[in-house]
Amino acid sequence: MKFQAPRGTQDFLPETISSWQSIEDRARQVSERHGYREIRTPIFEATELFQRGVGETTDIVTKEMYTFLDKKGRSLTLRPEGTAGVMRALVEHGLAQAGRIHRLWYVGPMFRYDRPQAGRYRQFHQWGAECVGSDHPNADVEIILLLVDYLASFGLANTKVQLNSVGHPGCRPAYAEKLRAYLAPFKDSLCADCQARYEKNPLRILDCKIPHDKAIAEGIPSILDSLCEDCRTHFDGVRRRLDALGVPYTLDPKLVRGLDYYTRTAFEVHDLGRGAQSALGGGGRYDGLISDVGGPAVPGVGFSAGLERILLALEEQGKIPRTEPATVFVARAGGSDVEAEALQLVREVRGSFSAVFDFDSEKSLGAQLKQADKVGASVAVILGEDELKGEQVTLKNLKTGAQERIARADLAGHLARHFTTMETAR
Ligand code: HAM
Repeated sequence: MKFQAPRGTQDFLPETISSWQSIEDRARQVSERHGYREIRTPIFEATELFQRGVGETTDIVTKEMYTFLDKKGRSLTLRPEGTAGVMRALVEHGLAQAGRIHRLWYVGPMFRYDRPQAGRYRQFHQWGAECVGSDHPNADVEIILLLVDYLASFGLANTKVQLNSVGHPGCRPAYAEKLRAYLAPFKDSLCADCQARYEKNPLRILDCKIPHDKAIAEGIPSILDSLCEDCRTHFDGVRRRLDALGVPYTLDPKLVRGLDYYTRTAFEVHDLGRGAQSALGGGGRYDGLISDVGGPAVPGVGFSAGLERILLALEEQGKIPRTEPATVFVARAGGSDVEAEALQLVREVRGSFSAVFDFDSEKSLGAQLKQADKVGASVAVILGEDELKGEQVTLKNLKTGAQERIARADLAGHLARHFTTMETAR
């Protein structure tokens, strides 16, 4: 019997893990520099949280959730996104309070029963940030910049920010009416899902992935013409600040996003080098979400980015930051005294660097050094009977072949210099 990873999931083997660590480390660093603090929430939540939060008419809730009953018959769902869980946590811990600002970030796996293809998986990873407690356009801009500056920090070119405002529950019904009036002649030719959306939530039709409905959506009235005074002022405030900061963006009045919680600002960042699955990340404002999941009326704005897609874009543009592990190989040749001292050396070196050795003490020095190459070590510390007697070790640079005998007491300093030189040579 041969097992395979479930369809739409991937194994990340040690060879590729350094790329993952680089983009996650950068996410952590950029988040913290913007004043955001990490939050970790469960990978599964009560199904109702997503039904209420993400929205009953969305593709995510109607088609894509991994939902199961636990042994007590409770309906649970593997999180398809992170925002609803973070808001649930804030409410549950009494942290969602008017006027109190929370800047939060997270990274982790999300699950959607989507049709797998390049850039689309059933288990994928998001880095996300949520700014809770302010309805000021500065919060929207901070969130957009967090994603834009993260992508720019890799030198990623060919990206585009798309921006829209989806209004709020006060002004959206008037737009929904306009939309129904425009769509009425096409109603019978809409896909079955969109026919249902026509009554319940016509804005969802703008997000339909079926080409036929997309063609109809081409001529739709712009939501930007239906915004109320407050939503317009807010949107103008966001745009003015982005303009002043020199952040380019394109207005896209059809950008409604795949989740129902958005109010006002909605945005996405796309990789222009990709046709399908080009959205590297997206988000927006969700002023009603916290009250929808049982909390007070506290506003919020956030985004999430798809890490697999960012890696694909970085790979295509040759921009993956490579970090070679600082590995030291300890080799030895001699009797049991040498063996004991070598193990001691490994232990010591591991205090500052990664150190490995060949388990088999019978192997020749040459065979041990071959192992050193295999594990990607750039330096070997060699211990023989002579070195042991003289309280010395031989240090061999495995990139250049140069070697020197040094005092054992000076080893730490030599290794530190070796790795600093390697770092600057890169
Ligand atoms: P979303 O647009 O559904 O938003 O997902 C954000 C990003 O996750 C997408 O732009 C894409 O890069 C990635 N993504 C989504 N589905 C998949 C998939 N099946 N395979 C690979 N990558 C995928 C949200 O999830 C919201 N929670 C964003 C947000 C946070 N809004 C406010 N705060």
